[in-house]
Amino acid sequence: MKDFIVVSPNNDEESQLEKENRLLSRQVAEEGFVLLYNNGVLPLQERTVALFGTGARMTVFGGTGSGETKGRQKVTIEQGLKNAGVKIESSLWIDEFDEKYKRERKAWKDDVEEHIRGYHLWNVMDMFREIDKHHFVFPVGDEICEKHVKEECDVAIYIIARQAGEGGDRKLEEGDYFLSRTEVDSISFLKKHYKKVVVLINSGGSVDCSFMDREETKPDALLYIGQPGEEAGNAVADILLGNESPSGRLTATWAKDYYDFPGADEYGFLGENSKEANFKEGIYVGYRWFHANHIEPRFAFGYGMSYTTFEHCYLDVKQKGTKLVFRICVKNTGAVYSGKDVVEIYVRKPSADIYQVMKELAGYGKTKKLNPGEEEILEIEVSLKDLVTYQADMHGEYLLSGEYVFFEGTSADNLNAITIAVVQQACLLKKVEPLNSCKVNFDEKIFENSFIENRELPLLEIDTSVFDSYISEHQSEGVIPSNRVLNLTDEELCTMLVGGSVVSYGYVRTPGTVGRTSNILWKKHKLPSINMADGPAGLNLTPQSLITKGGMEKSYLHLPENWSYGFLPKMEWIAVGNPKRDRMICQFTTAFPSTTVRTQTWNRELIYKVGDAVGREMKKYGITLWLAPAINIQKNPLCGRNFEYASEDPLLSGYMAASIIDGVQHLGGVGVTIKHFCANNQETEREYMSSNIGERALREIYLKGFEIAIRESNPWSLMTSYNKLNGTYTANHNELLMNVLRKEWGYSGVVMTDWGAITKGKGDYYQCANNGNDLIMPGDGSAVKQLLNDLKTGRLNRKAAQISVERILRLVMKSDYVG
Ligand code: BGC
Repeated sequence: MKDFIVVSPNNDEESQLEKENRLLSRQVAEEGFVLLYNNGVLPLQERTVALFGTGARMTVFGGTGSGETKGRQKVTIEQGLKNAGVKIESSLWIDEFDEKYKRERKAWKDDVEEHIRGYHLWNVMDMFREIDKHHFVFPVGDEICEKHVKEECDVAIYIIARQAGEGGDRKLEEGDYFLSRTEVDSISFLKKHYKKVVVLINSGGSVDCSFMDREETKPDALLYIGQPGEEAGNAVADILLGNESPSGRLTATWAKDYYDFPGADEYGFLGENSKEANFKEGIYVGYRWFHANHIEPRFAFGYGMSYTTFEHCYLDVKQKGTKLVFRICVKNTGAVYSGKDVVEIYVRKPSADIYQVMKELAGYGKTKKLNPGEEEILEIEVSLKDLVTYQADMHGEYLLSGEYVFFEGTSADNLNAITIAVVQQACLLKKVEPLNSCKVNFDEKIFENSFIENRELPLLEIDTSVFDSYISEHQSEGVIPSNRVLNLTDEELCTMLVGGSVVSYGYVRTPGTVGRTSNILWKKHKLPSINMADGPAGLNLTPQSLITKGGMEKSYLHLPENWSYGFLPKMEWIAVGNPKRDRMICQFTTAFPSTTVRTQTWNRELIYKVGDAVGREMKKYGITLWLAPAINIQKNPLCGRNFEYASEDPLLSGYMAASIIDGVQHLGGVGVTIKHFCANNQETEREYMSSNIGERALREIYLKGFEIAIRESNPWSLMTSYNKLNGTYTANHNELLMNVLRKEWGYSGVVMTDWGAITKGKGDYYQCANNGNDLIMPGDGSAVKQLLNDLKTGRLNRKAAQISVERILRLVMKSDYVG
């Protein structure tokens, strides 16, 4: 057992690790920003600007909920520009807006307090309900008028900011998906008063950009910065001033009209029944839908501009084992700026016997920073395993026979066909049993294929013999309970299936952890409980807290602003510690850009570094499992958690996840939890709704990213989702967990529920272990009691429970705590 020090009492100085990670966070933000439009005003030559909009000082660094960001110090856009020596001429407006925000927030707090005055503190749930009724709205700016304008300044920068987080979806309203009246008027006002207007979108996902269609509101440049993490302002300054050239590319389609998205009118709260989501678009998600319907998007998947220009020259492709390696020469053809470029490879699969999408991402690569005139030959790998098509009637995933047309380019809508790879005979890569639970009672969309083949292209014949020994029948993950587990008492066995409570105290405790495994085996077997902490935008720990003599954890100075009850004076009195009396714990972790922004870098090496940085923070603070990465598909822009997810494309999601997983897990002793498995695509009614999906779409879209990440990087654990899949809670879903995850993919890591996903009235405790979901999180005594009873009556299968505990103990043994 290692002697673990979780306490870092030094509050004043940034550690070396913090410094390094802060720089990395900045670099990732810069590479993740997407330049959507530029008529030449960027990079700015001016060093005096007028800065307006909500995000100027109230910059949104990350989302809310478990995916929120921490960090010692966060740089607003206003501060970042100042740090870079830019003079800001609009401080009056920013100060006035700040005051207005504070006034509004205070009025809101007063109003809530007025309404909860009569409640006893212990009726917390009733108070919450009352607070919810008075939900505070994130402000969307304030009017700009003549008095804010200074004649001598030519450039105005306007920041549109939005906030979102788990538990709720974004609204299809002005001030959220649409710009508010004030925002539109402000841009139009700025256009009249400044020579150059630059708009930045500081939001977890897309907003409606129809202001780009009208001359009076069309800015000179549009930059999407997403949620950039703690170095937001510095990164923005670097890009606006041209210290770095933008190289981010969108990972989701931005539509001209919200209703261009598939199933847009039925999404979540917009549909008739928000508890039944029928994924009628089937495999046509994101750009696949736009292609099939010939809809021109506002900004295509994979799109993004640079300050310089690049030329691509396709060289050749070779098969190396189960991979195709494409060589493409990229040249910086500009004269002034250096920059990085992304090369995207797409494929059109054979469609003689089955409908297909027109093009799908098959591989990608990013250059190093190329100086003007410099070139680089990129080698981009495409795995043949990713090119399979699911065929229900033939019980398998096949590399179909026929022609695979490959394209390369700079977005899903800007591609050139480069080669055709031919498979002579269909090749079965995986035998799978059809999933009975996926027989949906609605018709999925199918598009007739009318692809034109280009005979002029070079041909490559695929050697499928490389798969002769690969083809797999159902494989078993083969976990057999050891004697250590077979000898546990019933109480020990059932307790191990339930997580340690968030509020009680165990062997080690790091403030901000959201759960851990049970410590029941500590005394007898010296097997400790391990800590879990949230992500995905960094390690979500409490930066500063106070521990009382009795071991109680209390807040430092005040309750976090974003706690739903954080503003209640009575709670302050109970939950805030006394710095003079209590022991201080400081754990400053890095706020990295959101998963979406990170993925927009399209840079796997950089993302690996983020994993490594998070892993080192985990080691420092005694965290064994990071509850990240999250890779649900960004199916609709209104999903409240899109910022936590990578993309609308499963291949991109899967490989970027693999990089961050490797980055963490290569350190040894720490691991990740890939989540939320699966189809958690809306937050409205997330704990009660069912995502109803046909089998092909499930396999080729919603499971594919998870499958790639597991195959490539073997995450230590996986979290099931809140929602049901085709009527059954995912943590109780036999076909999903036992057939697909455990048998087909051979996954032997720990599977845990999402927090409180399985409780009374929502699924069954005993159906977790019985169906391959090992841990119930965060769990409590009543879950253990119920499981003991279920074990007695035989509802909980003893063998299944033992296998689950075996998996949990194998994970615990890998932890840094055990040495
Ligand atoms: C979220 C998970 C998170 C967990 C623990 C849940 O509400 O859905 O993503 O890891 O809480 O905080």
